[in-house]
Amino acid sequence: MNSFEYRNPTKILFGKGKIQKLKDNIPANATILFAYGGGSIKKNGIYEQAMAELKEYKVIEFSGIEANPRYETCMRAVELSRAEKVDFILAVGGGSVLDAAKFIAIAIPYEGADPWEMLVNRTAGQQKKAIPIGTILTLPATGSEMNGSSVISRESTREKLSFGSPLVYPAFSILDPQVVKSLPKIQIANGVIDAYSHVLEQYMTYPSDAPIQDNFAEGIFRTLIEIGPKVLENPADEISAGNFMWACTMALNGLIAQGVPTDWATHMIGHELTALYGIDHAQTLAIIGPNLYRVMFSNKKQKLAQYAERVWGITTGTVDEKATAAIEKTVSFFQSLGVKTRLSEYTGQYQETASIIQDRFSKRNWKALGENGIITLDKVKEIVEMSY
Ligand code: NZQ
Ligand code: ZN
Repeated sequence: MNSFEYRNPTKILFGKGKIQKLKDNIPANATILFAYGGGSIKKNGIYEQAMAELKEYKVIEFSGIEANPRYETCMRAVELSRAEKVDFILAVGGGSVLDAAKFIAIAIPYEGADPWEMLVNRTAGQQKKAIPIGTILTLPATGSEMNGSSVISRESTREKLSFGSPLVYPAFSILDPQVVKSLPKIQIANGVIDAYSHVLEQYMTYPSDAPIQDNFAEGIFRTLIEIGPKVLENPADEISAGNFMWACTMALNGLIAQGVPTDWATHMIGHELTALYGIDHAQTLAIIGPNLYRVMFSNKKQKLAQYAERVWGITTGTVDEKATAAIEKTVSFFQSLGVKTRLSEYTGQYQETASIIQDRFSKRNWKALGENGIITLDKVKEIVEMSY
């Protein structure tokens, strides 16, 4: 296991009714930007529940944060927040609303010309100030509720870029499993696949003498395989919903990445598919992930075979046979949730995609992705072409 330093400052309030703890966790006299999406929280009662707890505060509402939140939308919130002297942001929604809140939080005190610079120049980590954030998560998937990362799309350039900063970890996140019952089935399937892919990205590299992380990761895989279909079948079952929610948080709160190599190339390529074609985040991962493992097979087969044995119970055959079978099991699992795994099933205009992505990565100097930089631009092209 490699050396590491790990701190996660987010307080989790998990369970039914925890929204009632809101005011215990927001400073008195705060001016709150109440940020949310396209209105699902007004239909499922979360808006009323949250507002009922905020009567003593000055609350500025900001709605309309879209899936794959846009820089342009966030900047309107930044202007509003500066004018209203907002000093706390409450994000109520899925990963998109939470990610937008993180960008808004770090952009408000930003003193440079344009906060987008932080994403292009990768300088978010050097910022000294951000407005504190709290969240009420309504869609288990991204782990954004307990991490310091955010992904923002810029409409004008069709780019989707991420940033990270210790300043944008939520101060608290409320995880009430009751939110799951109003989710459309496709969002539940997306959530399972996104969380599953987060674990894949932090596990499917090479053996690194870190059995505790391996066991954590394999436990999350098995939990998602077991409860994903149950939540899809019955989202009102709060026991499955709660386990689903916590599994998604644990998949990307940094814990399982400590001391081990990580990959993240599936996400980097997947973000381009969302930027180019608007495909849902998790669906891009279902398209790319399995093909990345096929192309990088020789580097990853030891871990693939371990995953085959411990997660899928495939105990016979050679390392190569087990590793191959595990990739097929993963594809079947994604498909069993109702998600398509080929790019051509989402868009008819896919033929140039590999060259476009190769070109974009080259311009950004992203020439060596994955653990130890093993995924070169040629490999990226091969992975994307195999995903058509
Ligand atoms: O906008 P509203 O009306 O709220 O509807 C949303 C949205 O249409 C709806 N929804 C959310 N909760 C609901 C609900 N509908 C009914 N009942 C509820 N309880 O679901 C739709 C999708 O929401 P969104 O927030 O976009 O989904 P998700 O949580 O999957 O977030 C995706 C975004 O997160 C980024 C992705 O790139 C993408 O932009 N990611 C963020 C990460 C992070 N911060 O660490 C890591 C991830 O890998 C990912 O990249
Ligand atoms: Zn993801």
